[in-house]
Amino acid sequence: MSKKLDGLLLLVAMDWLIHSQVQAQQTYVNNKQLDCYNTNFNYTTKGYECNGLQSSCQSFLTFRSDPTYNTPVAIAYLLTASATRIASINNISSDVASIPTDTQVIIPVNCSCFSRQYYQHNATYNLKLPSETYFSVANNTYQGLSTCQAMMDQNPYGDRNLLVNMSLEVPLRCACPTSNQTALGFKYLLTYMVTWGDSISSIAQLFSVDQQSVLDANKLTSSSIIFPFTPILVPLTREPTKINRAVVPPPASPSPQTPIFPGGGSNSSSNRKWVYVGVGSGVAMLIVLAVFAFLFWNRKSKSHEAKPVSTSEPKALQSESADYSAVPVQDSQSGSLSSLGIRYAIESLTLYKFEDLEMATGYFGENSRIKGLVYKGSFKGDAAAVKVMKGDVSREINILKKINHFNIIRLSGFCLHEGNTFLVYEFAENGALCDWLHSDDSLYRIPTLTWKQRVQIAYDVADALNYLHNYTNPPFIHKNLKTSNIFLDAGFRAKIGNFGLARTLENEDEGGLQLTRHVVGTQGYMAPEYVENGLITPKLDVFAFGVVILELLSGKEAAAGDKEMLSASISLVLEGDNVREKFLDFIDPSLGNEYPLDVAFSLANLAKNCVTRDINARPSIPQVIMTLSKILSSSLDWEPSLELQSSRSMSSGR
Ligand SMILES: *[C@@H]1O[C@H](CO)[C@@H](O)[C@H](O)[C@H]1NC(C)=O
Ligand SMILES: *[C@@H]1O[C@H](CO)[C@@H](O)[C@H](O)[C@H]1NC(C)=O
Ligand SMILES: *[C@@H]1O[C@H](CO)[C@@H](O)[C@H](O)[C@H]1NC(C)=O
Ligand SMILES: *[C@@H]1O[C@H](CO)[C@@H](O)[C@H](O)[C@H]1NC(C)=O
Ligand SMILES: *[C@@H]1O[C@H](CO)[C@@H](O)[C@H](O)[C@H]1NC(C)=O
Ligand SMILES: *[C@@H]1O[C@H](CO)[C@@H](O)[C@H](O)[C@H]1NC(C)=O
Ligand SMILES: *[C@@H]1O[C@H](CO)[C@@H](O)[C@H](O)[C@H]1NC(C)=O
Repeated sequence: MSKKLDGLLLLVAMDWLIHSQVQAQQTYVNNKQLDCYNTNFNYTTKGYECNGLQSSCQSFLTFRSDPTYNTPVAIAYLLTASATRIASINNISSDVASIPTDTQVIIPVNCSCFSRQYYQHNATYNLKLPSETYFSVANNTYQGLSTCQAMMDQNPYGDRNLLVNMSLEVPLRCACPTSNQTALGFKYLLTYMVTWGDSISSIAQLFSVDQQSVLDANKLTSSSIIFPFTPILVPLTREPTKINRAVVPPPASPSPQTPIFPGGGSNSSSNRKWVYVGVGSGVAMLIVLAVFAFLFWNRKSKSHEAKPVSTSEPKALQSESADYSAVPVQDSQSGSLSSLGIRYAIESLTLYKFEDLEMATGYFGENSRIKGLVYKGSFKGDAAAVKVMKGDVSREINILKKINHFNIIRLSGFCLHEGNTFLVYEFAENGALCDWLHSDDSLYRIPTLTWKQRVQIAYDVADALNYLHNYTNPPFIHKNLKTSNIFLDAGFRAKIGNFGLARTLENEDEGGLQLTRHVVGTQGYMAPEYVENGLITPKLDVFAFGVVILELLSGKEAAAGDKEMLSASISLVLEGDNVREKFLDFIDPSLGNEYPLDVAFSLANLAKNCVTRDINARPSIPQVIMTLSKILSSSLDWEPSLELQSSRSMSSGR
C-alpha cells in the first residue's frame, strides 16, 4: 500500500517536473554559437527545445537581403520556403522582384520537432567554395539562423572534410509557443536576427509587442546583454507584416541608432531595462555615449547598485599611448574642455614649474629615465614619476584629480611647458608587477613574490577596479589592465596606473568620429566580446583581472606567441583528469612549495570564472571581491611550515 503511494507521489512529482519544464520558454544562445567545439553548450546551441503545445507549427524567420539572395525566389530557395508567401507578406510585387540590400524580410516557415528534441525548420545548402565551414554557413550565409553546433550534430561530415558541392542539412532555429505563451494569446514565434543597434525594446516595438514578453520568451532578464547575429524569439498574436523600420516611432533619443536601452529614452520609468547590444560602428556613437553618460549619471544619483555600465566604441589610439588607455564613461557635462577645466584642476593639484621638473629629473637625463617618456624625479627628497605627454591633456587631468584611492597611482601635479604636459605621479618603488613575474633577469626573480604578497596584490587590484566601476562619478573602465600597468610600492602593495591619459584633446576633437571597429588592447588580456563585437562593459576589466590572477599564479605571460593564451589554458588545467598534477604543474615553480594548495585552487577557480567567454556568467567586481576577501584571509592565516607538515590535499579546496 505504502509502496503504491510512494509510486504515485513519484509520478505526481515527475509529472509536475515535466510539466514545469514544458512550460519553460527558450534559452537565448548568448553568443555561445561562436564556440563551435564546446560540447557543454549543447543545450542552448543545438536548437530550441521541443517544449511547446504543438510538435509542429507555422513560424517566421527574418532574413536580410544580400547581393546573392535578393529576390523572394532566391531567399525561398536558400531557406526552403515559399517565394509567393515571402512576396505577399513583405508586400513585394513579384517573386522575382529584387529587394534592396539589407532589407529585413519576413520568411514564413513550417517549424517542427526533430527527434523530439529540437524545434527546427530544415533547409539544405550546397557548398560553393572550398573555404566554407559549418560556422561560415550558419553565421554568414544563413545569418545566424542556424548554428555550427546544430549543423555538426545533423551532418555526417567532419568540419575539415567539407568539399565543394556537398549538400548540408541546415537546421534553422524556430519554435512553437509554449502553453504559457498560448494562454497569453500568442499564436506564433518569430525568430528575429539581432543586428547592430538593436535592443529588446526596439525589437519589441518593431513587432508592436510587449517588451516583457520578448524577455520571457528568451529567458532573458532586464540586465542581460544581447549580441548581433544571435536569434531572439518574438511572440506574436497575429501574422507579422512587412517590417517597416521607418514607421517605427523613434525612441526618445535623437537617433534611430541608439536604442541601446530597451526602455527607450523614458528614464522616468522605474523598471528601466538594461538589455543592450554591442554597437560596432556608426556615427551615432557620440550620441550613444552621451545618452549613456546621462542615464548613468541619473542612475548613479538614484542608486548605488553595481550594474553593467557601457557599450561604446573602442577608440583608436596612437600606438605610443596605447599602454595608457582607459576610457571613462563619458561625462556629458564636461563636453567642452577649456581653461576652466585647468583652473578647477589647479585647485587640487600642484602646478609645477618646468625648472623644478628639470631639477628633479636631472634635466630629463638618461639616468632618471624609467621607461619610454617616464622619468623618476626627486622633489625635496620625495620620489615621483614624471611622464611627458604631447599637447593639452587638461581633460585627463581633470578626471584623474577626482580619483583618489590607495590602490591607484595618484596624480600629484602637472606642468604645462611649450605644448607638452608633464604629469607628476606618485612613485612606486618596486616598479611594474610584470617585471617581478616574468623577467628573465634573475636579479628580479630572486627573491620572488611570496604567496601572501601575490594574493594581496590581487586583492588590491580588485579593490581599485571596484572603486573605478562603482564609486567614481563618472564611472571608469580601465580597459587596459595588465601586469605592466600594475605597480608595486615599497610594501609590495599594488597600485593601478596608466589610465585616462591616452586620449589627448586632439583625438577628442576629431570627434569620437574616427571611431571605427578598430579594437585596441593587449594580446592576451582582451575579452572576447570586446574583440568580436567591440562591446565595452566593466566585465572587460574583470576578464583582464582574471588573466592577471593567472599570471600571479603561474608566473607565465598572458600570451605566449599568437596562439597560446593564458586565459584559455586554465580551463584545460581545471577540467578533465589528473587535475591535481596539472594544477601543480601550472603553479609558478619559483613559489616552490610555499603556498596553500587548496587556497591556490580556489584562486584559480575564481580566475577561471573571470575569464569565461560568457559575459553574463562572468562575475562582477563586487562578486569577485567577496570571494577574494575569503582567499586573502585564508592566505594571511596560513603558515608555510604548517602546510609543509600536513599532507597536502586538494579535497578541501573544492
Ligand atoms: C508559466 O505560467 C505559470 C502560471 O502562470 C507560471 O508559474 C510559470 O512561471 C510560467 N512559466 C514561465 C516559464 O514563464
Ligand atoms: C554534446 O553533444 C556531443 C555530440 O552530439 C556529445 O558528444 C557530447 O557528449 C554532448 N555534451 C554534453 C555535455 O551533453
Ligand atoms: C507548411 O505546412 C502547411 C500545412 O501543413 C503546408 O500546406 C505547406 O505547404 C507547408 N509549407 C512548406 C513551405 O513546406
Ligand atoms: C505595398 O506596396 C505598394 C506599392 O508597391 C504600396 O502602394 C502599398 O502601400 C504597400 N502596402 C503596404 C501595406 O505597405
Ligand atoms: C529535418 O531533418 C531531420 C534530420 O535530417 C529529419 O530527421 C527530419 O525529419 C526533418 N524534418 C522535416 C520536417 O522534414
Ligand atoms: C557573422 O556573420 C556576420 C554577417 O552575417 C558578420 O558580419 C560577422 O562578422 C560574422 N561573425 C564572425 C565571428 O565571423
Ligand atoms: C560542382 O557541381 C557543378 C555542377 O554540377 C560542377 O560543374 C562542378 O564541377 C562541381 N565542382 C566540383 C569541385 O566538384
